[in-house]
Amino acid sequence: MSRTKKISFSYVEYENAEELGAEDLELVKAARNSATNAYAPYSRFRVGAAVRLESGIIVCGANVENAAFPSGICAERSALSNSVSNHYNDKPVALAIASITDEGLTEDPPSPCGSCRQVIAEEEARTGKRIRLILSGKNITRVIESVSDLLPMQFSRDNLKTILP
Ligand code: THU
Repeated sequence: MSRTKKISFSYVEYENAEELGAEDLELVKAARNSATNAYAPYSRFRVGAAVRLESGIIVCGANVENAAFPSGICAERSALSNSVSNHYNDKPVALAIASITDEGLTEDPPSPCGSCRQVIAEEEARTGKRIRLILSGKNITRVIESVSDLLPMQFSRDNLKTILP
């Protein structure tokens, strides 16, 4: 016997980032500002990420590319490496991202790549707390309650239970 199953999720879309709450808007502005610090000479696609920690501290990251292309790192992983390294016990509660090209802020919000989704998922699992994702474009901003919505059936430490001590 077989069953067809369906996965769906809801998210909130704003037509203007100014409609966000003050804290989320502050996070979006931090992500946009961080994008200006990206090192992206190869793609010319600059991404900024800003993580809000439980304490209210905001930690930022940007993409840092490399002539050996796979050695580059995305903004989201850059920001989370920074927050875990410097604020291990302060749990991330929200993460905003924004992107800039030579034309300025992108119209469409950037969406975290697969590797970043996996890393954000690990951070949610490590802290036991959902991280609200705020994907912001020039106009449209999407708010997604957890990376699990973007990465259903994710690989996690549960999959390793047979080999973990
Ligand atoms: N990039 C990010 O920083 N975050 C993402 O989620 C998607 C892509 C970066 C990687 C690369 O430096 C540039 O954007 C173009 O792919």
